[in-house]
Amino acid sequence: MRIAVIPGDGIGQEVVAAALPALDLVAEIFDLDATVEQFDWGADRWLRTGVGLPEGAVAQLRAEFDAVLLGALGDPRIPDMAHGRDILLGLRRGLDLCVNHRPLPLATGTIELFRENTQGLYAGVGGTVGPPDRPTVAIDECVYTRDTVQRFLRYSLGRIRDAGQRRVTLVHKANAVPHTGRLWRELYAAELAAFPELDGTDEYVDAFCYHLVRDPGRYQGVVAPNLFGDIISDIGAALLGGLGLAASASICPQARLALFEPVHGSAPDIAGTGVANPYATVLCLALMLDHLGHRAPADALRAALAAARAEGGTPDVGGHDTTSGFMTRVLAALRHQHHRARPREVTAQ
Ligand code: NAD
Ligand code: IPM
Ligand code: MN
Repeated sequence: MRIAVIPGDGIGQEVVAAALPALDLVAEIFDLDATVEQFDWGADRWLRTGVGLPEGAVAQLRAEFDAVLLGALGDPRIPDMAHGRDILLGLRRGLDLCVNHRPLPLATGTIELFRENTQGLYAGVGGTVGPPDRPTVAIDECVYTRDTVQRFLRYSLGRIRDAGQRRVTLVHKANAVPHTGRLWRELYAAELAAFPELDGTDEYVDAFCYHLVRDPGRYQGVVAPNLFGDIISDIGAALLGGLGLAASASICPQARLALFEPVHGSAPDIAGTGVANPYATVLCLALMLDHLGHRAPADALRAALAAARAEGGTPDVGGHDTTSGFMTRVLAALRHQHHRARPREVTAQ
């Protein structure tokens, strides 16, 4: 298992550095061969060299790695986030990662949220008229292709069905944004026909947000266009108890290489203070192991996170742990489970 690691900026570097020992330990316990190579793509390099995503990066990742772990991008010295778009959106588009899975394990049940990840308002189509520093017209086009929406829906509905969920909701805004809205609704109805187990419905995104906050138990599977999915996932993270808890997997339905990153950003307000929550990043490692077919170590990481969370947590979730203090709990829980579970694992092998 070869893993490319892009710590990025701000707390991205802190949570990745904190989480990687959990990968080492779980690999040791389950006898997995996991090698990690780090890439310094981020704000410092951009400011030093002007390079965001280096030339050939996408081809290198495809050729040499099984998965990518990314911390976060975003730096106050680059207020327009030009480097972040180049690297993050460049990877999502370059690797054709059109599905972004952001599971929300809420007390009312898990919402399997799937966000389209490469198109819509993120397609990078647009421009300005007039002086660049004071344009008279500014345009960002919302672009969707039949092929990508179809691949996204087919894969996401399949995953929602495989997760044992019955209800699925398409989130859209077809009343105000009719062209892409119509395409999404047409393809949703067509793709749903292949999933008789699923009971499909659709909602306007504004009403969806209202209901999500008041009654999250109403939702099981959710499929959403790019920007709506971005916004919904932060609301969902708030319902979970904080952004530090929400993880994501960016997937190409036609390839094995996938990218895993927490839902949160580089949190400049707490960067450098040693209290960033590494929970979501460890959960990303579990999603990564699941994706690569290593279910038992993924479950072990999730169990260790739950045990650590029951005993403590970082300040964002109401605890007093530092980043490293919380990871000490996670690693101890992993070792503890291992000692208890060992005889059974040996038999299973
Ligand atoms: P943010 O997600 O970085 O932070 C929002 C709030 O949540 C902050 O108060 C922060 O302290 C808190 N928070 C987030 N993650 C946390 C964690 N792990 N532990 C404890 N608290 C945590 O959003 P923002 O402040 O709007 O964005 C900061 C920068 O990150 C911006 O440059 C933005 O563009 C970028 N960003 C990047 C990504 C990404 O790389 N995937 C995602 C979102 C935002
Ligand atoms: C996320 C982030 C990114 C997005 C930004 C940083 C471009 O908010 O991963 O949720 O909008 O996708
Ligand atoms: Mn976001």
